[in-house]
Amino acid sequence: MAEELQLTPSASKEERYKELLPQIEALVTGEPDLIANMANVASAIRMATGYLWVGFYLVKEDELVLGPFQGPIACTRIQKGKGVCGIAWATKQTQLVPDVDAFPGHIACSSDSRSEIVVPGIKNGEVIFVLDVDSARLKELDEADARFFEKVVSLLQ
Ligand code: SME
Repeated sequence: MAEELQLTPSASKEERYKELLPQIEALVTGEPDLIANMANVASAIRMATGYLWVGFYLVKEDELVLGPFQGPIACTRIQKGKGVCGIAWATKQTQLVPDVDAFPGHIACSSDSRSEIVVPGIKNGEVIFVLDVDSARLKELDEADARFFEKVVSLLQ
């Protein structure tokens, strides 16, 4: 495993994600522990993007419970159907929120968050975790991020 990510600083978001994906794949390949992999994936995404908060919530009984993350401290438990995370769980669909203030029920763990993406991780038809990414910039998170984070999540299943 390489100790540092190799990314071209001037590359576009899409190009950087193309460079990053195989490196994330290499990080998790051969390691069966989901929590260990989530910890490294959260770090890799935050180091590569500089986004405000990158992390995971795991489905435990009837709640989402905070898992490995990078960034400011966060809410520890989220109910199904509540907030962007709870809706991603309930709908089993990626939630792309360009403006968190325009999303009814958004849970503001950090008042600095302006845009957000949540991707559900699904195993045997059931959501087992969500990947949540927050940006401090309005509309910074877009379809390119959503597609990339979906690929990352698929590496963790
Ligand atoms: N904003 C999320 C809560 C989790 S934090 O962003 C880390 C939500 O609305 O579900």
